[in-house]
Amino acid sequence: MIALGCDHGGFPLMKTVKDYLDEHGLEYKDYGTYSEESVDYPEYAKKVARAVLSGECDRGILICGTGIGITIAANRFKGIRAANCTNAFMAQACREHNDANILGMGARVIGPGTAVKILETFLNTPFSNGERHIRRIHQIDEGV
Ligand code: RB5
Repeated sequence: MIALGCDHGGFPLMKTVKDYLDEHGLEYKDYGTYSEESVDYPEYAKKVARAVLSGECDRGILICGTGIGITIAANRFKGIRAANCTNAFMAQACREHNDANILGMGARVIGPGTAVKILETFLNTPFSNGERHIRRIHQIDEGV
């Protein structure tokens, strides 16, 4: 199950994401927002972060105008590793190296074609399980 969340700035790109998930038979829970009416992105970041941390969803996708605010908000939750990606290389690296559990994207930064490549890469790339990467991920949460 994939948790989806966006603000008004990210809303236009969320349709592309949902179309991709529908076409590939991937289940999701849409935590909103559901229009281009102005809202506050932290609310949606929190809903998706909680859905991932509770185990209700395996991964999350968060979209705002830049992808910045909504991933900053999600990363305030211990155990969340949200990566704002602008290309497929970043999506691959955030899975292989950082075991990112939330993908962030900016609807005012990337187009739908790039978004689909990023999404596909994020969903299909496993964590490398490399010892040094595991160690660094543990260090992120230490002392928080
Ligand atoms: C909303 O105008 C915009 O600030 C928001 O979508 C996001 O880009 C914030 O980081």
